[in-house]
Amino acid sequence: MSDAIYVNNLIKEYNTGRVANEKKLALNGLDINIEVGSIFGLLGPNGAGKSTLINILAGTVIKTSGEVRVMGVDIDYQPKRARSLIGVVPQEIVTDTFFPLWQALEFTAGYFGIRPENRITDQLLKTLSLYDKRNSLPQRLSGGMKRRFLIAKAMVHSPRILVLDEPTAGVDIELRNQLWEYVKKLNQEQGVTIIITTHYLAEAQELCDNIAFINDGKIIKQDSKKKLLAELGSRYLDVEFENAIDPVKVSSLKNTKLKLLNENKIRFDLHTENNDFTRILEIIHSMDLRIKNLNLSEPDLEDIFHKIVKK
Ligand SMILES: Nc1ncnc2c1ncn2[C@@H]1O[C@H](COP(=O)(O)OP(=O)(O)O)[C@@H](O)[C@H]1O
Ligand SMILES: [Mg+2]
Repeated sequence: MSDAIYVNNLIKEYNTGRVANEKKLALNGLDINIEVGSIFGLLGPNGAGKSTLINILAGTVIKTSGEVRVMGVDIDYQPKRARSLIGVVPQEIVTDTFFPLWQALEFTAGYFGIRPENRITDQLLKTLSLYDKRNSLPQRLSGGMKRRFLIAKAMVHSPRILVLDEPTAGVDIELRNQLWEYVKKLNQEQGVTIIITTHYLAEAQELCDNIAFINDGKIIKQDSKKKLLAELGSRYLDVEFENAIDPVKVSSLKNTKLKLLNENKIRFDLHTENNDFTRILEIIHSMDLRIKNLNLSEPDLEDIFHKIVKK
């Protein structure tokens, strides 16, 4: 399959401006490729370089060096064409326009050179449940509506790639579900490649089919979600007893897959497959204590990320 995004050895050094020549290396030779048609999660902690990468793709931050192609178009040689293929919903909600929603969207469409007869302003406003507000000023909208307005603004030129930078920061559950429905529909019905950045890994686990972990300005791992969870995910069985566990008993078991979480809670580290449950039950039984609670957790990306970073 072809690449929606291709990035090779990307470097971004910011001038921090505090002290002369003081620089901050935000992207440190980053490589990534994102397939057309995927719902892609770019995951990593705050400060990892996610927004910097996104803003370089969008043409709002200038890279220091490296190669970037959007749907095969090199941003150095055809910057305007590259920009027309991508729509970015920024992390920071800025609604700097002094025009009502409808007009603001029309202006943005004009900026991208969309002829009036080809504009989809009404359709976007309706899809994003903003049609009632078409004559309001963006500043007057609620936080959730502002974000939907920014999505509409990112979509006026029907880009082949939609990027959402930390889309659910400060967004309530209902709006979040609405957002995901919209995004999934765009992906399934129109084949739009979706890129989502987030430091909230549980969210990506729900939505994305492909994942890259970013840390300190570099991609440290990239794969399908399925593969990552199968290869690196672990499950835990947490057993809580009604009374304190004898630590001597636990250490005498010499089992590395087991640890005390607190005085009456044990965690068994399970393999994704081939678990010897009988052995685990024997150990639990040998504690000779009443069980208060059992909790079996499923593998998650948060856990995998920490594993990779520690390596
Ligand atoms: N305009 C800027 N000037 C100086 N440093 C910046 C600027 N923008 C981001 N940085 C720094 O670059 C690093 C990456 O930031 P960013 O791309 O925003 O990370 P993320 O989106 O993953 O949280 C951080 O250390 C951040 O402080
Ligand atoms: Mg960011």
